[in-house]
Amino acid sequence: MSIESCQIRKLPTISDERGDLSFIESGRHVPFPIERIYYLHDIPAGASRGGHAHKRLKQLIIAISGHFDIVLDDGVSQKRVHLDRANIGLYVCPMIWRELDNFSPGSVCLVLASRPYEEEDYYRNHDEFLADSAGA
Ligand code: TYD
Repeated sequence: MSIESCQIRKLPTISDERGDLSFIESGRHVPFPIERIYYLHDIPAGASRGGHAHKRLKQLIIAISGHFDIVLDDGVSQKRVHLDRANIGLYVCPMIWRELDNFSPGSVCLVLASRPYEEEDYYRNHDEFLADSAGA
C-alpha cells in the first residue's frame, strides 16, 4: 500500500440559493461499505491526533467544518494533505501511518470507516509499522 493510493475524492453536491447539500452513499461515493462513523470535535488549539496505522481499515476523512492537515506515511514516502471543504474526502487505505494537526478552531473531522473499532487492527508503534510496511 502506498500513499499514491490515498486519493482526494470529490463528493456530490447540490447547490442552490439556500446553500449546498452534499451526500455520500456507502460503496458508491466511498470505495468500501461504511461500517462505522466517528468524528473529532472540540479539538484544543495545537492538538494532534492519529499517530497510528491500520492493518485492514479503510477510511474516508472529511473536514466537515473548518480545516486541518493530515500527514500520510507509507513507510517510504510522506505527504501532507490540507482538507478544508465539506464535500472533499481523503481516502486512506490500510498500512498508512497518519497524523492529523493544524486544526482550525471549531473544526470537525468526520471519518467514514470500513470496519468496526478493533484495537487489534492498529499499529500504535511506528517501528512495528515500519517493520511490516512497504518500506520493510
Ligand atoms: P484513536 O483512534 O487512537 O484516536 P485518534 O487517532 O484520533 O487520536 O482513539 C482514541 C480512543 O478512542 C481509543 O481509546 C480508542 C477509542 N475509540 C473507540 O472506542 N471507538 C472508535 O471508533 C475510535 C475511532 C476510537
